Amino acid sequence: MLASTTSAQRVVLRARYCVTEILGRTDRDILRAADMLRAGDLVAFGTETVYGLGADATNGLAVAAVFEAKGRPRFNPLICHYETTDAAFADVVASPLALRLADTFWPGPLTMVLPRRASSHVAMLAAAGLQTLAVRVPAHPVAQRLIAALGRPVAAPSANRSGRISPTSAAHVLAGLDGRIAAVIDSGACRVGVESTVVDLSGAQPVLLRPGGVSFESLQASVASLQRGREGQDQVLRSPGMLAVHYAPNAPVRIDVTNVRWNEALLAFGPPLPGSAVVFQLSETENLNEAGAKLFEGLHWLDAQAAALGLAGIAAMPVPEHGLGLAINDRLKRAAAA
Ligand code: TXA
Ligand code: MG
Repeated sequence: MLASTTSAQRVVLRARYCVTEILGRTDRDILRAADMLRAGDLVAFGTETVYGLGADATNGLAVAAVFEAKGRPRFNPLICHYETTDAAFADVVASPLALRLADTFWPGPLTMVLPRRASSHVAMLAAAGLQTLAVRVPAHPVAQRLIAALGRPVAAPSANRSGRISPTSAAHVLAGLDGRIAAVIDSGACRVGVESTVVDLSGAQPVLLRPGGVSFESLQASVASLQRGREGQDQVLRSPGMLAVHYAPNAPVRIDVTNVRWNEALLAFGPPLPGSAVVFQLSETENLNEAGAKLFEGLHWLDAQAAALGLAGIAAMPVPEHGLGLAINDRLKRAAAA
């Protein structure tokens, strides 16, 4: 009985698994990646924030495959990526504020949640059945060329298994999704390194749902009334992705550490605390942009070191709560909540 169940499961699994191709940045490879997307397959690609796991946003089956490949809960909606502001605002109703933010921050690491237009061809599953849609115009040339070649919006969450650390290299993507997706485009490193800032403009008050690559301060310069969004239930309901446990390495993480234990790997910001044999430096000069760009690389690397050396965990030094520090601390807090 048990044996027959197991073999039935194997058949299903085999059908879902595939050989993941590693593509380059040539026109030929980008066109091939676009063909794969058009056929309903999944392709991971670089953006200036993190690597995205792309699907043709208008193909419900392809979007469903994204949730499956990541092991992502179906209630957590995806961001749709566009080549231009005009294309994005064809799918959502843009307020005057949204137009201004697009002018200032697109292409770039800002995602806006806006009311979805009835005429939009984006699959309902992409927004997990919500009446809103999260839209973004990425700045990375590979992302732009891929979306242009497809000629449709690309739905893309970060290209990691659900709850795990976001990828900032093709190698990170493969570590989590090899055999579960058709291809990854090796797009080089990600300039920003943390995910886009998500603002909800669909209600009466603009709300910051996720701190990210556009700093709160620079957003506030454009949106004086911007609210930080309360931690907890309210935020979870508005942005279902903001669950406390997220970005989790396998090793336990301690944050705001001023005293590192001998058997911990250290995530340093500025002069490293003495006492750890394994150190990853986010920024020697305490530059928050540099630290953001290296954060996930550091967590991936320290996690591998901790496993290889049998260390007890990862200790992260304090990072100031301004500029990109907001996003960095948000991700570290979630890594530590695991
Ligand atoms: O930088 C990024 O944003 C990367 C790259 C690939 O663009 N993408 C990314 O996607 O981080 P993901 O799925 O890991 O995070 C998307 C976040 C989640 O917290 C999700 O809940 C929220 O955006 N979100 C998406 N659609 C939403 C909606 N309609 N309303 C509220 N929140 C939404
Ligand atoms: Mg993610």
